[in-house]
Amino acid sequence: MLKAKTILVALTAVTTVAFGVGAAGDSIEMKKKEWQFDGPFGTFDRPAAQRGFQIFREVCSSCHSLKYFKFRNLSGLGYEDDMIKAFAAEYEVVDADPDEYGDEKIRKGEPKDAIPAPFANENAARASNGGAFPPDLSLITKARADGPNYLFSLMTGYVEAPVGTDVPEGMHYNKYFIGHNIAMASPLSDGIVTYEDGTPETLDQYAYDITNFLHYVAEPKLEERHALGLPVMMFLFFMIGVTYLVNRKIWKPVKEGKTLWHHGDD
Ligand code: HEC
Repeated sequence: MLKAKTILVALTAVTTVAFGVGAAGDSIEMKKKEWQFDGPFGTFDRPAAQRGFQIFREVCSSCHSLKYFKFRNLSGLGYEDDMIKAFAAEYEVVDADPDEYGDEKIRKGEPKDAIPAPFANENAARASNGGAFPPDLSLITKARADGPNYLFSLMTGYVEAPVGTDVPEGMHYNKYFIGHNIAMASPLSDGIVTYEDGTPETLDQYAYDITNFLHYVAEPKLEERHALGLPVMMFLFFMIGVTYLVNRKIWKPVKEGKTLWHHGDD
């Protein structure tokens, strides 16, 4: 009897802990934004994504790479070829081929290159970031649950740590980061990037713009995918209609009490 009771108590404890932890982990409610790219017909907000690219160049690229995104993919955001060449030339990249002595060849970026890492390797990146590694951001909006809202929330989530919270040396409190202590200091704040088009230079606007850019980077084919969806749906509905009519026609004689096939003397 005692045994059964012990097991019951243990089970209850395990379930409470399991569900309790799950609830605590899930309880950070992300900020919800309306994104133009959401929904089955969503498209990219190009002016916002272009401003986001400016933020990436001026702020984020000093620590983060976009190793799966080629400069030439910027054409999808409405940049002309010569602008893309100029953007690429702002960066230095290691050529795929060595020089005549077999050493690394460093040259200016070209449209065919991916947006390079600002550090030679992971150790160098960690050394300049207090041991933390700034991850590649090419797929960040897809690598995190509710990615765009998460990125927006993270960028705007640097708040005063609640009283009694211990934020370790070199860490920063962020409401939306798992565990709340993040090695990245708030990269954005009001007025940090100067916009040419008169858009408000506020933290919220910056967070919205960088998210639009990084979501384009993560899914440059989103619009094509959405554009394909409509004809596919129309075709499916058409085929449902055809199937219904054919079905009705085939079974009509049976429903009217006539047989379909006539054998021999029937
Ligand atoms: C001074 C260097 C630095 C700059 C500038 C910087 N970051 Fe970071 N970032 C880091 C480091 C370091 C980490 C790793 C943090 C950690 O693991 O605690 C990080 C992590 C991140 C993450 C991952 C969070 C997660 O869920 O794991 C995102 C997203 C991010 N940065 C976005 C940005 C964006 C967008 C910008 C530009 C607006 C930016 N960062 C600018 C250093 C930087």
